[in-house]
Order: sequence, then structure tokens, then C-alpha cells
Amino acid sequence: MRIAVLTGGGDCPGLNAVIRAIVRRSVRDHNSEVIGYLEGWRGPLDNMVMPLTLQGTGGLIQRGGTILRTSRTNPFDFEKGPERIIDSIKKHDIDALIAIGGEETCGIANRMFLEHKLNVVCVPKTIDNDLNATDFTFGFDTAVNIVAEALDRLHTTAESHNRVLVCEVMGRHAGWIACYGGIAGGADFILVPEKIYPLKEITDAIKKRHVRGKDFSILVVAEGARLENESPEHEERNSVGQSKRGGVGERLAKLIEAETGYETRAMVLGHIQRGGTPTAFDRVLATRFGVHAADLVLEKKFGRMVSLSGSKITDVPIADAVDSLKTLDMDLYKVAEVFFG
Ligand code: F6P
Repeated sequence: MRIAVLTGGGDCPGLNAVIRAIVRRSVRDHNSEVIGYLEGWRGPLDNMVMPLTLQGTGGLIQRGGTILRTSRTNPFDFEKGPERIIDSIKKHDIDALIAIGGEETCGIANRMFLEHKLNVVCVPKTIDNDLNATDFTFGFDTAVNIVAEALDRLHTTAESHNRVLVCEVMGRHAGWIACYGGIAGGADFILVPEKIYPLKEITDAIKKRHVRGKDFSILVVAEGARLENESPEHEERNSVGQSKRGGVGERLAKLIEAETGYETRAMVLGHIQRGGTPTAFDRVLATRFGVHAADLVLEKKFGRMVSLSGSKITDVPIADAVDSLKTLDMDLYKVAEVFFG
């Protein structure tokens, strides 16, 4: 068989580990050939390909980013976009495509499967962990570890200066990174998109800490969290029209300082959460996903997405993953709340 692979959406630690696993399984065990489409769905749209060989994909398990590069291109936004994809698939004699991506990439794959009969299999990826139909996506564990380490570092400087420090983390629509990272890093308050806290409850919690003799506080806020009385009306949009959240950490810090009188600073962790080497957990998950995706292709089980269910790798219809976002488990948030203040 001839298989193509693409990586779409934001990059994510573990993408190269998936590519390596797909190539290893397909070439060595299934006697297939693999090529890569460059820059997400722009690759098949504009016929940008590169060979993916055993030799070329060796030693990739620890490398962050994606050797195929990525973009947020949506072929359905282009005149005859889907048809151009099918033409490219035919031109390169491809039997199946493996799309590695989040909600947007998998959503496009599902439409290509249903409306244009493309033989496609998906691998779920996002540091945000907000993709449905899988317990975890790879990249999330790495992001959480980066947040936890950042909070450890912020603790010592906050403590030394008697400051309140607000750390803004990724998560446009879901508070998974904020909640996991905040619990792991011992945050004194965590704000997530799924729940709006009145400002007074936040500042009361900080004041109580200071009365108890703690002269510093660490807060984690997801970029998509809303503050009391804030409306979504004036959100900035990115190149593909998605809401570009952010800035909430700075806004919150100003309000806290005004209300409590404690010196408060904000920092944005940003793309540091997405860069660099994947954790061992993400390397293993990405490898298991890649092997399973290659097996699905061999079995011609198209329209499926690889998934983690408990500790087992399985697969589900792509449609199950793209219908709605997986928001934060509020039972987990309740555990975090035990440590607020
Ligand atoms: O979707 C993953 C994510 O990391 C979000 O948490 C974040 O808002 C977004 O990507 C940032 O994307 P970009 O790098 O395109 O601005």
C-alpha cells in the first residue's frame, strides 16, 4: 500500500513520535510505502510531499515539533479545495491518508471521508486535551509538566518578594492544562473557561492566605477563562477565525492588586507549553497511536480515529471526536478547589 501522513493544527510534542511509529510499522511490518504531506491540509491542496523512510524517521522519538511542518489550512475554504485533495491523492497513487491533528484537522478528515470518500484514519493530537472520544491526547502530559515546573519556579520568586503571581496557560475552550498543571504545581487558585468565579471570592481567598501568614500566592488562569462581567464580544480571531484568547492573566493581576493592595504580576507561559521534547508518557502514547493507525490502514478500517480508553488503545468513528469539545471534568476541578486559598 501507499500511505500518506499529514500533521495539522497547532504543533504538539509527540507528533514526530507518531510519524516514526507509522513509518516503522507500515514499512517494516506491512511492506507499505509512506510519504508525508507538508504543512497540514495545505500539503495535499498544493501537492507538497516528502518521502518518509525508515532511515529518515529514525531517532525522532524525542524530537518536538513536526518534521512535516503544520498549518491551520482548511481545504473547504478554497475553491474546489476537496477536489484538489482527491486529485493529489490520485496523482501520488495513495491508498490511504493518516491525518494527525485536533478537532479542526479531524473534522476536515471526517468531511473528506463522508463527502469525498477519502480513505482516511485520524490520530488525535492536542496539548489542550479537549478532543472527545479519547481519554487523553498526546502532548497534554508534556504541557502539564511544563506548567508544573514553571509554577515550582514561580513559587520561589513569589515567596521571596511577597508577591501574587498569575500564570496564564493555554486552553482556549477547556481548562485541562490549567487544572492538571495547577494541581501539580500547588496553585492557590485556578481559573478555567468552564466556571466563572466572582472576583471577590478570588481576592478573599488570597487575603485569607496572607492573614494565615502566607505572604505570597500563585494563581493559574487558562487563556480562555472569563472574568466576572466580561463578555466574549470583542474577542480577537486568528487566521482561520478561531477565537484568539489571552490577556486574561494581565487583566486579573490588575484587578487583584487594586482590590487587595498586594503587589501582583502576570506571566504568560504561551508556546513554551508546546515546544521541546515530549515526556516519556507522551512518547509512549504517540508511539502506540502511530502503530494502531498503521494497523487500521492495513485492515482498511477507514473513517476511524485512534483512541485511548483507560489503558487500552482502541479506535472510534472520527465523528465521535469532532461533534463537541471535551470540557474539563468538574469532579477534577472540585479536587483543585480543596486547595484554593
Ligand atoms: O489548540 C492548541 C493551542 O495550543 C491552544 O491552547 C492555543 O490557544 C492555540 O493552540 C494557539 O495557537 P496558535 O499557535 O496558532 O496561536
